[in-house]
Amino acid sequence: MKPGIEWQQPRADADCEQFAADLHEALARAPKAISPKYFYDETGSRLFEQICDLPEYYPTRTELALLRGHAADMAAQMGGQVQLVEYGAGALRKVRLLLDAIPRDSVQFVPVDISGPHLLAACDGLAADYPGLAIQPLVADFTRPHALPPCPDGSRRVGFFPGSSIGNFTPAEADAFLRLAASELQGGGLLIGIDLVKDHEVLHAAYNDAAGVTAAFNLNVLERARKELGAQFPVDGFEHLAFYNPAYRRIEMHLRARRPLELRLGGTAYAFHEGETLHTEHSHKYTLEGFQALAARAGFRPGKAWTDANGWFALLWLEALQRG
Ligand code: AVI
Repeated sequence: MKPGIEWQQPRADADCEQFAADLHEALARAPKAISPKYFYDETGSRLFEQICDLPEYYPTRTELALLRGHAADMAAQMGGQVQLVEYGAGALRKVRLLLDAIPRDSVQFVPVDISGPHLLAACDGLAADYPGLAIQPLVADFTRPHALPPCPDGSRRVGFFPGSSIGNFTPAEADAFLRLAASELQGGGLLIGIDLVKDHEVLHAAYNDAAGVTAAFNLNVLERARKELGAQFPVDGFEHLAFYNPAYRRIEMHLRARRPLELRLGGTAYAFHEGETLHTEHSHKYTLEGFQALAARAGFRPGKAWTDANGWFALLWLEALQRG
């Protein structure tokens, strides 16, 4: 039997066990809350790709336009020879715009992602389209300590974290990630995408699209629980809820019980009263100054920032200070 096949089956079981344990913990808490990472099975990842193309969901197209318009300037901040580390690399769509602005023999690309098969497939596609590009994929959880390949002599290590994914971290998680990145990017820098505070109606529409794709994305967590863990609950028992919470400057996504109901998982029944929610995601919005202050506390010197004409989204260049 091939090593790859032997490796995948136990991993799926382990993933399932972890999902079950995390869901039990989520449902036993008050208020009930689960990590947004459980959105992203195959169906959830496909739904997220659809969200990115929705007319109401401005972040993706705005960030892509910033990259198209300013990639050369961004590459100039990074310097001549770079080891480019992409955190949570995914489909490798956005980094192509940066790579187009850097001479191919001046860059070593290190995409880091927790999903090995997904990462390797994306790297195959990139290698086909960018012949001669040095690619060193790393399968790892980038929010935890990990060992990057050594930075080639004469290169600066620079990070790329697009998509405003940092918004899905709690403030403590965002701080921890920035500190880890500041440490491993010392002497280089980080190019990061952040979603900016804006009109509440624009935000509300982006997470409550007319086609219902975000609702399906949110409800997919429960679908997964049904399919993968045999969870039992009324089919129409839950609805999508997303709203802007100005006190925390974040969109909150929840799954709300339409009526009093029970969700059975394993041998345990979890009661929901009418209107009670399972909190599935928060998506923090920042001001430019607020985020730059957060980055400065974590060990970066804020540099240039690129924003669209509406001031809805920003890509920020942060210099990682050399320590000791
Ligand atoms: C991945 N992340 C930045 C998205 C966001 O906007 O917070 C996830 C998402 N949730 C609902 N729509 C998109």
